[in-house]
Amino acid sequence: MVIAILGMGTVGSGVNELAARTPNLKVKKILEKRFTGPQITDNMEDIVSDEEITLVCETMGGLHPAYEFAVRVLEAKKHFVTANKLLVAEKGAELRALAEKNNVAFLYSAACGGGIPYLQALRLAHETDEVTALGGILNGTTNLILDAMQTDGQSYDEALAEAQRLGYAEKDPSSDVDGLDTMRKLILACAVGFDAEITSADIPTAGIRNTTVADIAYAKKTNRVLRLCAFAEKNGDALSAYVEPTLLPASAQEASIIKNLNYAWYEGYGAGHMGFSGQGAGKLPTASNIIRDVACVAAGQRSMTQPALAPHAIDNTAARHPYYVRIPKEAAFRTEWIDKTIATDGETLIETVPLSPAEMHTAMKAIPGAFFAGIRKG
Ligand code: HSE
Repeated sequence: MVIAILGMGTVGSGVNELAARTPNLKVKKILEKRFTGPQITDNMEDIVSDEEITLVCETMGGLHPAYEFAVRVLEAKKHFVTANKLLVAEKGAELRALAEKNNVAFLYSAACGGGIPYLQALRLAHETDEVTALGGILNGTTNLILDAMQTDGQSYDEALAEAQRLGYAEKDPSSDVDGLDTMRKLILACAVGFDAEITSADIPTAGIRNTTVADIAYAKKTNRVLRLCAFAEKNGDALSAYVEPTLLPASAQEASIIKNLNYAWYEGYGAGHMGFSGQGAGKLPTASNIIRDVACVAAGQRSMTQPALAPHAIDNTAARHPYYVRIPKEAAFRTEWIDKTIATDGETLIETVPLSPAEMHTAMKAIPGAFFAGIRKG
């Protein structure tokens, strides 16, 4: 197969490197403005007009011009493989339809779980079993920060600075630490596992920005670990979906997911709980998932879902669970939500009665500096 790569950053150069090790795969052209070379062009037209190129891998990231390039590739009747979760989360419906119309492939395994072969396993589970729930630790940067806080006793700022120094966190870390990257990956998993089209605005999403040593101390005192988790579950026709910091028992599988690793899971009616852990980002792991998708296209796969998905409103009422909350002492909190209270200097720690994510996320947005985490029993 003769392919092109859009973008020669970390992941693009990984795809180029792994393609050179893959039989019957040739990278003919690479779109890149920053440097020159024998395969490199800065003109997208060189790629879409090249009839020998049948598949294009997009590793640029960002919505624009990745979206416009995706449209040009699919309209040129070339297969499109991407690692870009923002692109798929925001424009997936349109790109799926365009790929179907032009009878070409649109695959995006590397956009959820980096190198973990999660979405393809989920796709097969959806086709052959019934996926009833899914989720996991889908962001390596936040896991690295939380693990450093819990294992090494670092403050949030120290752990973030270290994640930036190691090249995991961006200078502006918002999309990771505010849970947006995790939420976009959850949208992709819900598309593949449930054939459900859900929109980012409907998913209660909370990140780890307000985590302090007080929260870590409380997790340790109660023999729990803190992780940023995504959850989605089918309840009849209703679908719950949310992203939030989560306190889990120290014996939970998630507790063993250290440093920047990810853990993506699904529950199948037949299979039961299936978990997949590994590198959720990085040059060669992410590239390996792209190369796997290229092999799947060569074997005849054209999509990861039905061409048109059913739009699903999120209903989190069945997903009620207790929460841990830390608020300033003077902040108001509904007494009927309190199960137990622990007063500390200047702050109040609370464990709540079971509440829906919508209730909790909305209430906590109104209290600056507050932190909350869902409490899981297992
Ligand atoms: N920023 C992401 C992470 C990269 O830390 O997991 C992969 O999506």
